[in-house]
Amino acid sequence: MELQEIFRFVPQAAEQLTHGAFLTAGGPVWNPMTIGWAQFGVVWGKPVVTVMVRRSRFTFRLMENAAVFSVSVPRSGELNQELGFCGSRSGKNVNKELESGLKRAAARSGGADGVMQCGVIFECRILQKQLLDLDTLDAGLRARYYGANQALADGDPHMLYVGEVLAAYEC
Ligand SMILES: Cc1cc2nc3c(=O)[nH]c(=O)nc-3n(C[C@H](O)[C@H](O)[C@H](O)COP(=O)(O)O)c2cc1C
Repeated sequence: MELQEIFRFVPQAAEQLTHGAFLTAGGPVWNPMTIGWAQFGVVWGKPVVTVMVRRSRFTFRLMENAAVFSVSVPRSGELNQELGFCGSRSGKNVNKELESGLKRAAARSGGADGVMQCGVIFECRILQKQLLDLDTLDAGLRARYYGANQALADGDPHMLYVGEVLAAYEC
């Protein structure tokens, strides 16, 4: 897809992130996880989406075994209950495919299956990943987001996954 075609969807996606979107990893287990942080841009001459997943998430296990992921963006004001469910319940304990009310949308361009009820889906192929280096992070943000009471004793830093956007489309 042309960059311009993909970036047409970015303003809507970036705005919706303040309410949440769904991340799904490739593979047989379909487990939508609510995300609030992501980056859209160009790296290595490719349109990319970077997502951030803490190692304590069930989604982390899925991402580590996946070559692709998708980011599904709800239409404005929609799916708030589902965003709450997928942002508080873990695939370690519940089957989100059966219990979230969300339906799987088959990938069209080699990415991961997305969420059918969403307005836009970005299908992505993982190009690179790296664990956030807390020693180089702004001290205030480190204290706020990676201080005491995290699921892992080291602050549970996020793994960053840079995904090439294979396709972005309205559902
Ligand atoms: C609005 C919102 C945004 C969130 N954003 C992220 C995120 O970007 N990265 C992350 O690792 N967890 C994020 N979370 C937390 C996960 O969605 C939550 O821990 C979820 O239950 C993990 O599901 P899983 O264990 O099935 O992967 C967010 C939660 C909410 C409610």
